[in-house]
Amino acid sequence: MCGIVGYTGKTPAINLIIDGLKRLEYRGYDSAGIAIPIQKSEKLFVEKRAGKLQILSNSLTNVPKSNAGIGHTRWATHGGPTDLNAHPHLDESGKLAVIHNGIIENYLEIRRQLESAGHKYLSETDTESVAHLLADAYKRNGSDLSAAMREVCQQLRGSFTLLAIHSDHPDLIVGARRNSPLVVGVGNGENFLASDVSAFISHTKKALELGQDQVVSITPEKISVTDLKGLAVKPKDFEISWDAKAAERGGFTHFMLKEIYEQPKAIADTLLISKSISESMNKAKQNSGLNLNIDLSEIKKIVFIACGTAYHAGLVGKYVIEAWTKISVDVELASEYRYREPAISKSTLIVPISQSGETMDTLMAMRYAQKNGAKILSICNTNGSTIPRESDAVIYTAAGPEIAVASTKAFVTQLIAIYLLGIHFAKLHNSLTQKEIDQILSELDALPAKVEQVLETVEPLREMTRKFKDAASMLFIGRGVGFPTVLEGALKLKELAYMHAEGFAGGELKHGPIALIENGTPVVALLPSEESVINEKMLSNIQEVKARGANVIIISDHEVKNFDLQIRIPTCSELLQPILAVIPLQVIAYEMAVARGNDVDQPRNLAKSVTVE
Ligand code: M6R
Repeated sequence: MCGIVGYTGKTPAINLIIDGLKRLEYRGYDSAGIAIPIQKSEKLFVEKRAGKLQILSNSLTNVPKSNAGIGHTRWATHGGPTDLNAHPHLDESGKLAVIHNGIIENYLEIRRQLESAGHKYLSETDTESVAHLLADAYKRNGSDLSAAMREVCQQLRGSFTLLAIHSDHPDLIVGARRNSPLVVGVGNGENFLASDVSAFISHTKKALELGQDQVVSITPEKISVTDLKGLAVKPKDFEISWDAKAAERGGFTHFMLKEIYEQPKAIADTLLISKSISESMNKAKQNSGLNLNIDLSEIKKIVFIACGTAYHAGLVGKYVIEAWTKISVDVELASEYRYREPAISKSTLIVPISQSGETMDTLMAMRYAQKNGAKILSICNTNGSTIPRESDAVIYTAAGPEIAVASTKAFVTQLIAIYLLGIHFAKLHNSLTQKEIDQILSELDALPAKVEQVLETVEPLREMTRKFKDAASMLFIGRGVGFPTVLEGALKLKELAYMHAEGFAGGELKHGPIALIENGTPVVALLPSEESVINEKMLSNIQEVKARGANVIIISDHEVKNFDLQIRIPTCSELLQPILAVIPLQVIAYEMAVARGNDVDQPRNLAKSVTVE
């Protein structure tokens, strides 16, 4: 949600800023704007437009030459997506500009005070108040923009990443963050600020993490970070492992399709990383306590907290970890968790799962649990993001940058991290024999090749999907780990095809949902392997919908006769099957979105990184 870029350096800023904003487009937005200081000029050059970045780019004529500037893509919260509400917002003098991600919760109170003091507003946004506050603070602080930012941040409630520039200091950008992401890209004679590293990975791999309530100021040669009192802080540096190419479409029509096809590699890479973490946990346990600050042997209960697709990964995790370890596992929607009174104790391990590491619901739920004594081990794909930074321990997934809003490779890598966590607990609790563990590990190693096999056989599914393009609704059924897998299939379809879709546990159909079935209703049914105790039950559930006129598409590893279409996936143990079974579901959603003419990579109303609650 909202993309933020700041650049100060040795080359003209405008192209760098637009390019950075393009790389952040995936976060979701509905307007865009830029502000650049002009040497020896009182005013800033500002352009902002509702709609896609291309509209802004087209309007950028006669841009003055400047080696610094800020750019923003806005996802509307306060006030619709109009030119006036787009960022940057200026103070009345036109010398100071601000861009913002997040929500200023006390903006109305501030606005009332400022308006009664004579400030004139041009927009309906919460952000404009920050521009006026900063302008006043700038005067009070002897034209020190960093000091002004520190003062203003203390007055704000809510979440924010803020960048500000002032025409008095044409090569200076000042930023601040609270509960919202901001990273510094460290270059040679040039520096960057951005919502995430994708904005600048083609220029530098060196980055700095900023902590909560910190203020950063950058010039081409200098970066300084302080807390809100003005005390110097040494930020943590890190090396970005993603390469710029990974964030490009590379010949595919959409990022989502590219990311679907990247899954074999993402799984293999995550297996490598997660295994090495798991090994280091084992070693540390033998020597002393864990080097990751958590003694997992004390854990009596695991709680996954997550949203959307990551929540579905957690649901699979419940089946897996309870089966392998008999440790009780709960899975919680992060947005619900802290608003009830959950049972948390020191022996509870909270496992937030997040691709972006910035999802506000997940972050807040995690902080709530931490405050109540739980230990946090997060599963995250984004180095330098807030959730891993605030966790006691992290398992990083190695999906690489996921640009399409719809999560695909992040999901399968989250599952891999969960499987390895399950194995780790099984070792600690001696709940699986070494032979069983070896068997699971070798099956995990075989998954990348099996996913490739699935990807080679999805063509008929693409054709079939196009036939259902005008269907009013599509239903998905599964049992066991197949149930969370079909929930994920239904979410994908809603998100991309803007079509009613629901996932059900096969056994639940007769308790209500079967009333939805009418002649021609497409139903995707996921079957476990033939030996599974739930295979026959699923076959009966399929007969029930077939008898009522459903068009049934079966996904299974064995031959099933008399159905409209069957997609065969390779055989694997039941608990690992979601990794293979989710691929055809992703393809259905992708193909349906294309067939219905939708924006595949940036579906309407959605943002990749949901940084508001
Ligand atoms: O970045 P996160 O994994 O925390 O995001 C959580 C959800 O917002 C995300 O999985 C969302 O449901 C996806 N767009 C679904 O494809």
